[in-house]
Amino acid sequence: MSTINEHGYTLESAQNYRQQFPGLTRMENGQPVAFFDGPAGTQVPQRVADAMSHYLLHLNANHAGLFATSVETDRMLHEAHQAFADFVGATNGDEIIFGQNMTSLTFSFSRALARTWNPGDEIIVTALDHDANISPWVLAARDAQIKVQQVKFSETDFTLDLEDFASKLGERTRLVAVGCASNATGGINPVKRIAEMAHKVGALVYLDAVHYGPHGLIDVADWNCDFLACSAYKFFGPHIGILWGRQEHLESLEAYQVRPAGDQIPGKWMTGTQSFESIAGGLACVDYLADLGRDLADGATLNRRDALAAAFSGISSYEQELSRHLILGLREIDGIKIWGIDDPERLDERFPTFSITHSKVKTPCLAEELSQRGIYVWHGNYYALEFTEHLGLEPEGMVRIGLVHYNTIAEIDRLMMAIKSIVADV
Ligand SMILES: Cc1ncc(COP(=O)(O)O)c(C=O)c1O
Repeated sequence: MSTINEHGYTLESAQNYRQQFPGLTRMENGQPVAFFDGPAGTQVPQRVADAMSHYLLHLNANHAGLFATSVETDRMLHEAHQAFADFVGATNGDEIIFGQNMTSLTFSFSRALARTWNPGDEIIVTALDHDANISPWVLAARDAQIKVQQVKFSETDFTLDLEDFASKLGERTRLVAVGCASNATGGINPVKRIAEMAHKVGALVYLDAVHYGPHGLIDVADWNCDFLACSAYKFFGPHIGILWGRQEHLESLEAYQVRPAGDQIPGKWMTGTQSFESIAGGLACVDYLADLGRDLADGATLNRRDALAAAFSGISSYEQELSRHLILGLREIDGIKIWGIDDPERLDERFPTFSITHSKVKTPCLAEELSQRGIYVWHGNYYALEFTEHLGLEPEGMVRIGLVHYNTIAEIDRLMMAIKSIVADV
């Protein structure tokens, strides 16, 4: 393992790393754009785009052929499977499945798992999750005619209600589908504990790590889950989904697949021809993060997994500084409510994603006004539909401010000034 140097990831690091992201130079109305839309998709470093264009311009072949460009494609694919195994904390690259996005991969796995369910079985989803980790399971359960239980969240700090989870878990539970972190509240779920509880009753655990990916070190070995899905476009890569599954499950479950594809993992689970250029870009984004970790640890020779651990260690303490600054700033504005943990002493329990509403300014209006000032935020429910419905926040939802390691304190100050001036006008 590695420790990061005494400087860690600082504001100065953020300024340096920003230079690798051409998208961050965008101007609007004479001002640089402040990108707070990371939870819906981050900007990418130059090297990700370079890897994709290199693949398209110099390799571009189908895989498994006997000529050079195909052989090199297979080599790149092998490396990418290994890189994402490192990214999620696995050792076997064959446990990594690439697909269009997390939603499509989850729909595909929900069908495969549903074939193992019998009348009387139950599955558990949560009211805090993105719909991509709810609807695939609900629809599969409907087809298999089994019951779905839904775990509640606390209406005080909007964290998952573990007592409610325990009360719904039982001998009949076959699957628990839960997010590692909420894309609405930023709250981090205790997935290791959830997996332990689920396994005690023999249920499988499917984790949605899409919102976790840009902020924390995923660790499937430590969490002891069965499946985990994430999306590279949320952590500085291209639009591609990644699913890790425990080898024994990937081998024993039946995949819906064309016959010539064969029964070997990982190919068994990857339907059709993949977006090889996106996989090349995904590999480059994992290496971007690993190199960031090597810089922080002063360890040029650190292996990729240890380098990723160093990266996320530095990134998360920097992001906590940003979160503290944002919470304190938001608290000074009358009428703002944060729908998530808003205690600066509890930053270990959340990522820097903040959903807010204002008592007088409507959500779309706030988002639109910010956009005119070159500040990009998301608004609505961002598909965390159960959450907004439970809280009566539909149809307008909330405004989401999502911070990542390329955001700065100065951008947050600009956001605070902008919100203050917008709400002062009502
Ligand atoms: C927490 C979470 N889960 C799942 C998804 C769906 O991911 P994808 O767009 O890769 O299907 C998203 C997308 O916003 C998300 O934020």
